[in-house]
Amino acid sequence: MTTIKIRGGQRLVGSVQVSGAKNAVLPIIAASLLAEKGITIIEGAPYLTDIENLAHVVRSLGVKVEMSPAGRVQIIAENLATTEAPYELVRKMRASFWVAGPLLARTGHFRVPLPGGCNIGERPVDQHIKGFEALGAEVSIEHGYVEGHVNGRLKGTTVYLDIVSVGATINTMMAATLAEGQTIIENAAKEPEIVDLANYLNAMGASVRGAGTDVIRIEGVESLHGATHTVIPDRIEAGTFMVAAAITGGNVFVEGAIYNHLSSLCAKLREAGVDVEDDISGIRVRADKPLKPIDVKTLPYPGFPTDLQAPVLALMSRVNGVSIITETLYENRFMHVSELRRMGAEVKIEGRSAIVEGVPKLTGASVTATDLRAGAALVLAGLVAEGETIVNGIEHIDRGYNDLVGKLRTLGAHIFRTDDYVPPLKLVSSQS
Ligand code: UD1
Repeated sequence: MTTIKIRGGQRLVGSVQVSGAKNAVLPIIAASLLAEKGITIIEGAPYLTDIENLAHVVRSLGVKVEMSPAGRVQIIAENLATTEAPYELVRKMRASFWVAGPLLARTGHFRVPLPGGCNIGERPVDQHIKGFEALGAEVSIEHGYVEGHVNGRLKGTTVYLDIVSVGATINTMMAATLAEGQTIIENAAKEPEIVDLANYLNAMGASVRGAGTDVIRIEGVESLHGATHTVIPDRIEAGTFMVAAAITGGNVFVEGAIYNHLSSLCAKLREAGVDVEDDISGIRVRADKPLKPIDVKTLPYPGFPTDLQAPVLALMSRVNGVSIITETLYENRFMHVSELRRMGAEVKIEGRSAIVEGVPKLTGASVTATDLRAGAALVLAGLVAEGETIVNGIEHIDRGYNDLVGKLRTLGAHIFRTDDYVPPLKLVSSQS
């Protein structure tokens, strides 16, 4: 079983390059299904198992997907063989449900397994379904599958999403690109990845305005074509390196990080006493004095990202004083706490809040990642723990961090994987 081993105590220093955003690449791969003609080329895609999994899902629909070591994904979706996605692939990843919107818009039908809950919470898709129904589709859930039909084209409409949902905004937006007339999505999510998707859709010939605000307007068109698009940098990966710099008292330039995408994290790190400098080509993080405790509440963008809650909790576990970290998006996203406790952290959970009493030292232990960001938090804790930390369950980390271990090593961390993982070679072998 592959693990990550860390010998804590090294201050991180140097420069690290951020990869392309996983959460931008995934919806763009799904949206490429909308292209009746032409080739989609995504530049800057990181090697991640989540991306490989979604590539398998779209291949199962008859689409050609090739990935190159340089991070280029090429997709030809002219011929769709089926509108039904297989359970054994979809169950691995919720983002697979994003193929539903494009299939419905282009063919009038989809049958996609209902994604289950996951380690961090229940994660329903009722708002995705609300979007499809508002656009005129009939949607049913039977035998574990969600099935949608429409005779002819979807019809543009106004949809108010009851919950600010990234996934439902994306699925509704993609479906509406080929609908007849105008669609207005109200209470839309505003994440940078949604803006990136809108830019890609517009390059395909769609007409999407307002992405990045809570009202998105889509003027339906009759057909879309492939397009070339370079994805934005991964703000969560960037944020993880920023927190890594802070927890080790380091001085790190996070190259490619976009300040505006990370303003809530920057504000919180500054409040804690970290020096954060915005630079044209990235963000510098310097932590050379003792830090102060902070209170953090996760919220939809531009609020503090839930995906950085676990890393920041790990940081606060070492900061003298009491920090309160409140998770408002997911009901079960404190699984990292019991593992951090095994390393000596003092954290109490009260409802949706973690009360973190900073300790002067963590000690290395064998711990297990239960989800992607929990895994990152354990690695960060390992960087400052006394002695050796062994992180198990690293398949979760491989879902969303491109060579996390290699990048941390270039910054001076004593960290290695117990397999001989070389990401670019895996990319080559994933071609089909
Ligand atoms: C995306 C991100 C994930 C991030 C999350 C919130 C990707 C691949 N994943 O996930 O990393 O943690 O945004 O920033 O981009 N909800 C409903 N009904 C729905 C849809 C969502 O109740 O139909 C709820 C969810 O259970 C959750 C909240 O809304 O409590 C936000 O979920 P959503 O924004 O949809 O997250 P995802 O798109 O799944």
